[in-house]
Amino acid sequence: MKVLVIGGGGREHALCWKLKRSNSVSEVVCAPGNPGIAKEARCINIGAEDIDGLLQLARDEQPKLIVVGPEAPLVLGLADKLRAEGFAVYGPSQAAAELEGSKSFAKALMDEAGVPTASFATHTDPKQAEAYIRKVGAPIVVKASGLAAGKGVIIARTEEEAIAAANDMLSGNSFGDAGSQVVIEEFLEGEEASCLFIVSGDTILPLASSQDHKALLDGDQGPNTGGMGAYSPAPCVTPEVEQEVFNTIAKPIIAALKQRGINFIGTLYAGVMLTDNGIKTLEFNVRFGDPECQPLMSRLKSDLGEVLLAAAESRLDGVSLEWDERKALCVVVSSDGYPASFEKGQVISGLDAVEAAGTIVFHAGTAEKDGNIVNNGGRVLGVTALGNTVQKAQEAVYKALENLDWQGGFYRKDIGYRAIEREQKS
Ligand code: AMP
Ligand code: GLY
Repeated sequence: MKVLVIGGGGREHALCWKLKRSNSVSEVVCAPGNPGIAKEARCINIGAEDIDGLLQLARDEQPKLIVVGPEAPLVLGLADKLRAEGFAVYGPSQAAAELEGSKSFAKALMDEAGVPTASFATHTDPKQAEAYIRKVGAPIVVKASGLAAGKGVIIARTEEEAIAAANDMLSGNSFGDAGSQVVIEEFLEGEEASCLFIVSGDTILPLASSQDHKALLDGDQGPNTGGMGAYSPAPCVTPEVEQEVFNTIAKPIIAALKQRGINFIGTLYAGVMLTDNGIKTLEFNVRFGDPECQPLMSRLKSDLGEVLLAAAESRLDGVSLEWDERKALCVVVSSDGYPASFEKGQVISGLDAVEAAGTIVFHAGTAEKDGNIVNNGGRVLGVTALGNTVQKAQEAVYKALENLDWQGGFYRKDIGYRAIEREQKS
C-alpha cells in the first residue's frame, strides 16, 4: 500500500524508515519531509500545518493510510478533515488532540477520570496566579496551557521566579496565545518515563517503554527542550509499573474521552513521574515522542504499516507488537544556541561515516543547500544505535559521532546515564 506521512522531523524520519521496511508498504510519501526522509520516501514540499495543501495532496495521491506525525496539524483538525473525505488516518481528532493542545483541558479530564497527577490550579489572571503561588510556595511548576514545543514549562525554585514566569506567559510575551492560560502545579520529584500506546477506540496497545532527557545539559541541567536524547526500553518501567500506567492512566483517560463522545485513534503518550507517592502523570501527548520514536522504531519488529492501518480502520483488537530484545539509544545533535536562537545554514559533514560506524542517522532540522546538508532547526540529528545493553548502544553512538564534522552543533555526552547506572547495579 501507499502511505502518506505528515511531518518533517526526526520522529517522521523514524516512522518513514520503519514504514519503508514494512512488507505491507510499497511506497511512502512524506510532506514536507527532509533530506534524510528523502532516502525513504518521496517528499512533497507542503508544510505540516498547511491543512488545505495537505487535503489536496491526499486527494491527488490517494494513499491507503495517512499517518500524522506532529501535534500541530492534529490540534488544527487535519485528521477530522481527512476522515471526512474517507481516508484511513492514524492520528486523533481535533477534540481528542486537546489532551495535548490544552494542558488545562488535560488536567480537568484527569481530575474527572481520577488519573493521578500533580495537584494544580488553572489561571488567566496574573493577580490570582500570584496569590496561588504565594499560597502553595516554591518549588512550583508554571506551564503555558497551549502548545509550546516542549518549552512552555518553567520549574521555579522561588515564588518570585514562578510569579515572573506566570506574568510573562499571561501577558503574551513568551508563548503568545498558548500562554493566555497557565497551569500552576505541584513540583514532583522522581524518575520520568514515557509510556506510549497505540489506541483505536477501546483497544489500547502498549509500545515498549522509553525515556528521554528533556534538559539541555549533561546531568539533566539547564532549560527544558523537546528532548536531547532517548532510549528504549526504560529499566525503571518494570512490568508492574507498565501495568499500573495502563490501568490507572491510559485506560481511564481514554474512557473519560469516550464518555464525552470522543473516539481516540492514534498515539497516546503519557509522560509519567515515578514518585515516592506513586506514579503521577506529567502530561499527555497525542503523537509519538520525539526523540523517543527513534529508538522505538529501531526496535520494532512488527509491520508498522499493518499495525497503524489496523488502528486507523478500528480493528486493532488482537494485534500485538514484537520487539528486538536489544536496547536502542538516540543522541540528539542540536544547533548551538538551541532552545533559544541559533544560526541556520551551516554545512554538516561526515554523516555517511557516522552511519557507516553502525548507527542510523535520523534527520530532524536539516535542509539541503548546494548539494550539502545544512542545519535548519534546533534539533538537527538523532543518531541511534542498538546494543545488547544501553551502555553498548551508548558507546556505539558516541564512537560514531566522532566522525561528525560540524563545528556549530552540540550534543549531550551522558544520554542514558540513569539506565546505565541501573544496568551496573544489577
Ligand atoms: P510537560 O510538557 O508538562 O511534560 O513538562 C515538560 C517537563 O517538565 C517534564 O518532562 C518534566 O521534566 C518537567 N515537569 C513538568 N511538570 C512537572 C512537575 N509537576 N514537577 C516536576 N517536573 C515537571
Ligand atoms: N520527547 C518529548 C516529547 O516528544 O514530547
